[in-house]
Amino acid sequence: MTSAPGASFAISDLRQRPEFFDIVADRIWRAWWKDGGHPLEYITGRLGENLDAGPIPLALVAHDGAAFLGTASVIASDLEERPNYTPWVAAVWVEPQHRSRGFGAALVERAARDGFASGAHRLYLCARPARTGFYQRLGWIPLERDVGRFGLTVFTRDAPASGISSPP
Ligand SMILES: CC(C)(COP(=O)(O)OP(=O)(O)OC[C@H]1O[C@@H](n2cnc3c(N)ncnc32)[C@H](O)[C@@H]1OP(=O)(O)O)[C@@H](O)C(=O)NCCC(=O)NCCS
Repeated sequence: MTSAPGASFAISDLRQRPEFFDIVADRIWRAWWKDGGHPLEYITGRLGENLDAGPIPLALVAHDGAAFLGTASVIASDLEERPNYTPWVAAVWVEPQHRSRGFGAALVERAARDGFASGAHRLYLCARPARTGFYQRLGWIPLERDVGRFGLTVFTRDAPASGISSPP
């Protein structure tokens, strides 16, 4: 049972809401790293880089007040088979009980906006076959399929032709 997000729903840079650091690290670790035998400390170390100055890497957190809803990141490198591509929208995660309410799309959109605002003209994203439909619906263009041992699809998205628009 879920309730609609309140007026306090927001997507924040983790630097502004560091109280969500531990839950973001936990979710990224459980979703993508734990089964490979990596310790949680490996992810807390990498996530800590998102708190440094500089636009990238960055981590976003979707929250309704103090309630964690999901996360997404923009990082320099996400796929060792494609070191020449950068930067990437990565680690998109929405809490299971809050899915199918637009938070995933909102996180991807905000990550793309922040990625372009950092000066990138093209962004990359990779997804397993089961997730490709989600990103295609959001307008990401498949660039390569069946990359690496997980058969990933690499998506790309170019900056809007009008250039970078940042809020006043
Ligand atoms: C993928 C994920 C981030 C989507 O989050 P979300 O908040 O549910 O996303 P949205 O609400 O914006 O959009 C969900 C919609 O996309 C659809 N969708 C989800 N996966 C899809 C897929 N593989 N193909 C097509 N559509 C898909 C859903 O059916 C839903 O549509 P509906 O609202 O009509 O039911 C979430 O399912 C998740 O955290 N999954 C586990 C982590 C993961 O796989 N991340 C992606 C790594 S590549």
